[in-house]
Amino acid sequence: MSQFKYFKEKLFIESTSVLNIVKKNKTPFYLYSERQIKENYLNFAKRFKSVRPLICFAAKANTNLVIMRILGKLGSGADVVSGGELLKALKAGIKPNKIVFSGVGKTEEELKLAIKKKILLINVESESEAILINKIGNKINKIIPIGFRINPNVDAKTHKKISTGKAENKFGVSIKNFSSFYKNIKQLKNLKIDAVSVHIGSQILSDAPYKKTLSILLKIFTSLNIKLKYVDLGGGFGIKYNKKDKKINLNNYAKLVYNFKKKLKCDIIFEPGRSLVGNTGILVSKIQYIKKGLNKNFIIIDAGMNDFMRPALYDADHDIVPIIKTNKKNLEPIEFVGPICETSCKFIKYKKYQKINEGDFVAITNVGAYGSSLSSNYNTKPLIAEILASKNSFKIIRKKQDLLKLINA
Ligand code: LLP
Repeated sequence: MSQFKYFKEKLFIESTSVLNIVKKNKTPFYLYSERQIKENYLNFAKRFKSVRPLICFAAKANTNLVIMRILGKLGSGADVVSGGELLKALKAGIKPNKIVFSGVGKTEEELKLAIKKKILLINVESESEAILINKIGNKINKIIPIGFRINPNVDAKTHKKISTGKAENKFGVSIKNFSSFYKNIKQLKNLKIDAVSVHIGSQILSDAPYKKTLSILLKIFTSLNIKLKYVDLGGGFGIKYNKKDKKINLNNYAKLVYNFKKKLKCDIIFEPGRSLVGNTGILVSKIQYIKKGLNKNFIIIDAGMNDFMRPALYDADHDIVPIIKTNKKNLEPIEFVGPICETSCKFIKYKKYQKINEGDFVAITNVGAYGSSLSSNYNTKPLIAEILASKNSFKIIRKKQDLLKLINA
């Protein structure tokens, strides 16, 4: 159940009116629901109960320490893609034996850190990376547990900028080169191949590409007689951003994974990001100015593409809702835009909207994943605050960046 709802005309997060939070905090800010985060994790775990997977939250979706700690306390591990994310996961209290490390370009320094911290798996994405890890292992006289990522050449039918499992994408080892890659890696004495991983893309709304991936993996493992401790099936589960998005059927997928696990006698790892935190946050913003355009009015809000990149990067539509609803209609088309000096600093258009005025507050919805974590200091704007609401209280979980510190950095 969504933790963002209107009571009478006011938008609430859990049992707190967003207006109350706005009165005490300067916009723009991210606002999350603790209950929604917990609910999402527990629902995900419940769906895959029969599989008993290790759920490694993809930290890149949201690296707020408090949020990572909430997930960690519920049992989540972490999927990290940099030394920084690895250190954050550890700081959030996530145990090294629940951390997997993905990414095509891990540096020697990052690999050494992962080895030193004794994480569960380094998911290797190329032969050169495997050779480097083997060299490090050899130097310190240790056997390093690794997984390797397969690129199954499956079309996840998602936005082209977030597809990762096609042969043309840089990720993983292609199935074509796989058997020679596997043979070469097996020769490396300081590596222990514990896992295979796949991650075919993000915001996937159908179980069909997942099904296809499972059958490709099964075929490869059987033909090469590969036995593994873990198969890491990645993340990518889509969420409903708007009405036209279909809901992915995870129950069906859970059954398939259960059978897959039984056949291979391995443990399953998942790396969900968006599906755990996407719908847990809104970005609260003030209407700074309203400007008449030729065919529409520009609603200029105080949040920009530096705070929330998804519309600019992926043409993503995120609904913007008023903090206070009225019945008064505004019949002219409008476009919500931000202050950054780029044409792509714009959010969404509406043919009609309720009547709004300068100084009113609105919220960009479903920004819990790849919102704050993708934000930047572009135009020398400080990173904005993050606030967590829980029942009828709220607290700041990351302060707004200090402008003076930013200028003097
Ligand atoms: N595992 C790996 C190896 C990944 O590369 C990713 C995401 C995930 C797990 C988590 O995927 P999720 O469950 O969140 O779909 N910034 C883009 C999404 C980029 C995803 C990159 N990889 C967006 O805002 O749509």
